[in-house]
Amino acid sequence: MPVVDCQGLVRDYALGKTIVHALRNVSLSVDEGDFLAIVGSSGSGKTTLLNMIGCIDTPDGGTVSIDGQPTGGLSSDDLADVRSQKIGFIFQTFNLIPVLSAVENVEYPLLRHRLSSKERRDRALHALEMVELGHVGKNKPNELSGGQRQRVAIARALAVNPRIVLADEPTANLDHKTGLNILHLMKRINKQAGTTFIFSTHDPKVMELAERLVELEDGEITTVGTYRRWDPTGALAHLSHHIDDIIDNMFEHEY
Ligand SMILES: Nc1ncnc2c1ncn2[C@@H]1O[C@H](COP(=O)(O)OP(=O)(O)OP(=O)(O)O)[C@@H](O)[C@H]1O
Ligand SMILES: [Mg+2]
Repeated sequence: MPVVDCQGLVRDYALGKTIVHALRNVSLSVDEGDFLAIVGSSGSGKTTLLNMIGCIDTPDGGTVSIDGQPTGGLSSDDLADVRSQKIGFIFQTFNLIPVLSAVENVEYPLLRHRLSSKERRDRALHALEMVELGHVGKNKPNELSGGQRQRVAIARALAVNPRIVLADEPTANLDHKTGLNILHLMKRINKQAGTTFIFSTHDPKVMELAERLVELEDGEITTVGTYRRWDPTGALAHLSHHIDDIIDNMFEHEY
């Protein structure tokens, strides 16, 4: 049984008098333990799709099931339970709470878990150490660099030991080496705990590590494949970021 199953997802946004079709009939099934990257140019619908899978936003059409459970009819409290028990979300814009310290931010989603305050604190500190931020636990988000904030957001998602991690461009603000370290940490968690990872990304490092790539174009899935079998004239040609890097990188591999 897939851990995430989306069927016929539609999401329209009203922008003034025009309607933006952010998702048009998107179906995607993700197995437990998958390490999947959603790629596509800016505005193609990646964040919208992750928000649907993460029960943060509801579709205008179609269904999302998490672990076999359809989320369509659930109350907002039940949805919050599904999110907090099963899903770790790394937001593109971090969404850290400014008045809380780094460690308190990581602890926050653990409040919905049955843990003592000591267990919560220990779990949060351990997660911060995993992303090499054990030393800045007391700092507030505005006292951290962009890359450090991104890593706090990653620690917050991992601290709940989720079945599914949804990571919206998690390496976008990290230097090459830190990005690679974080990705290898995620891959290790994926292999050891069987955690499912779904990324949205423009980063070739993520694409290379992903076991499966799904390409969105203007709200529709156009291609499913792997990086090495990717079609450079089609799928890659319009990836707006790092395009030269991506193509250089491809020719370095036995393509
Ligand atoms: N809250 C909103 N209101 C109106 N339009 C929106 C809203 N959120 C997204 N959109 C539109 O929906 C489309 C898909 O946006 P989305 O954020 O999913 O793209 P994306 O693939 O994540 O892009 P990026 O790579 O820049 O993060 C875009 O045209 C965007 O302008
Ligand atoms: Mg996005």
